[in-house]
Amino acid sequence: MIVKTAKFLVSNSYYQNCPKPDKPEYAFIGRSNVGKSSLINKIVGINGLAKTSGKPGKTQLINHFFVNEEWYLVDLPGYGYASIPLKIKAKWETMISGYLQTRKNLLNTFVLIDIRHAPQKKDIDFIENLAEYQIPFSLIFTKADKVTRRQLKENLKTYEGYLKESWEELPGIFVTSSETGLGAERVLDYIEQTNKVFVYQPE
Ligand code: GTP
Ligand code: MG
Repeated sequence: MIVKTAKFLVSNSYYQNCPKPDKPEYAFIGRSNVGKSSLINKIVGINGLAKTSGKPGKTQLINHFFVNEEWYLVDLPGYGYASIPLKIKAKWETMISGYLQTRKNLLNTFVLIDIRHAPQKKDIDFIENLAEYQIPFSLIFTKADKVTRRQLKENLKTYEGYLKESWEELPGIFVTSSETGLGAERVLDYIEQTNKVFVYQPE
């Protein structure tokens, strides 16, 4: 898919206020600092469209972007950032889970995971919750430029092996780098294919 236009639409702290769910939608979620906002920018080809930062906790709201006047891309706050006050953390968790569980047009949730790390409980718990609520998801391993090819292969194998211990079928898996652009095209192709199955169901 070629991205012709991408614009920021709206930020919300209440999922109830999100745009009318009449277009296909894709959400980016994952631990703080994993690279959600950076990858969104890479995918649409506009630096700075989604706000990024070296410090975790930059994205704090549900941010809707509108791509090709056809589908929504949603940047969410990260989970698992230890230094955020408990009260704010609880607020973000309610906001994120409310959004994920009720958003009718959400065709896929991309769960971003830093390729450099071994499987972490917070990510595993999160994807198990998605499965429990039957929320479709794929995994995106980020920051591929930070490891060697060999490390990348090894870490992927470790992760898949770990998932296979409790899952019969593996989710879709993408490997990306917002530095080099690796994987961006594959994610866009996946979205293009998935857009075709969208049917708007008014209340
Ligand atoms: P929160 O909004 O705080 O949850 O973070 P986020 O997941 O949106 O991360 P963000 O995109 O803001 O990136 C965090 C840091 O990682 C920034 O310093 C980015 O430049 C860096 N980063 C993100 N993706 C990549 C990547 O693919 N490669 C490298 N080398 N750095 C990356
Ligand atoms: Mg962010």
